[in-house]
Amino acid sequence: MKIGIIGSGVVARALASGLVALGHDVKIGTRHPAKEDLQAFLKKAGAKASSGSFTEAARFGDIVMLATSWSGTENAVKLAGTDALAGKIVIDVTNPLKVNPHGPPGLAVSGNDSAGEQVQRWLPQSKVVKAFNHVGNALMFKPELKGGPPDMFIAGNDASAKRTVTDDILKPFGWNVSDLGGIEMSRYLEALAMIWIVYGFSNNYWTHAFKLLKK
Ligand SMILES: NC(=O)c1ccc[n+]([C@@H]2O[C@H](COP(=O)([O-])OP(=O)(O)OC[C@H]3O[C@@H](n4cnc5c(N)ncnc54)[C@H](OP(=O)(O)O)[C@@H]3O)[C@@H](O)[C@H]2O)c1
Repeated sequence: MKIGIIGSGVVARALASGLVALGHDVKIGTRHPAKEDLQAFLKKAGAKASSGSFTEAARFGDIVMLATSWSGTENAVKLAGTDALAGKIVIDVTNPLKVNPHGPPGLAVSGNDSAGEQVQRWLPQSKVVKAFNHVGNALMFKPELKGGPPDMFIAGNDASAKRTVTDDILKPFGWNVSDLGGIEMSRYLEALAMIWIVYGFSNNYWTHAFKLLKK
């Protein structure tokens, strides 16, 4: 499958490495496709990974992943173009973090709204699926943990898009998947990311993930 990634940071690169390992073709979208560290990453990743503009990545992908800093996300979506993303599955990995110089960040969007819902509003013709936002980039691909495979919670309005993301991306990445419902459930997935982050800050520990224990 061809996957476009909007964003070129640590998350984009962790996802790209996993996707290439699974045999997918990946295009990382950025405002600076020629930047040196990205080119070095792509060289290591091999022929299945390339870089391009946000629009090129959006057009390239059968599925597109959104991995941008929250403050730049609306602009990145505009630069990618709603047309380039129309009809496509867009996996929203963002968290709407608000920097706090004195400790863990907070959420810039919360309560009766969420980043996932905003992204879906900005891309009304796309099928937005919230996923990957409540784990650190180091564990996104094939998390090997003492307690077994962790749980990834997802949300989105299109049932078929969520099935595709589950079967073609999340399960091969090594996750148990729980579908929580419509895109408005992003409110809780983004709050869950805050639990992950606050735990990380409190314990200086960054390789944890969530698992539901069942009887
Ligand atoms: N770090 C983690 O482990 C983790 C885990 C789960 C979820 N997340 C979420 O995933 C997202 C990506 O995180 P990250 O740490 O990889 O990267 P990041 O540093 O938060 O974001 C980097 C990307 O944002 C783009 N960007 C920044 N400002 C922009 C603007 N004004 N207009 C357009 N694009 C802009 C950059 O584009 P250019 O390439 O053009 O510079 C870059 O590709 C964030 O929302 C984060 O909260 C992070």
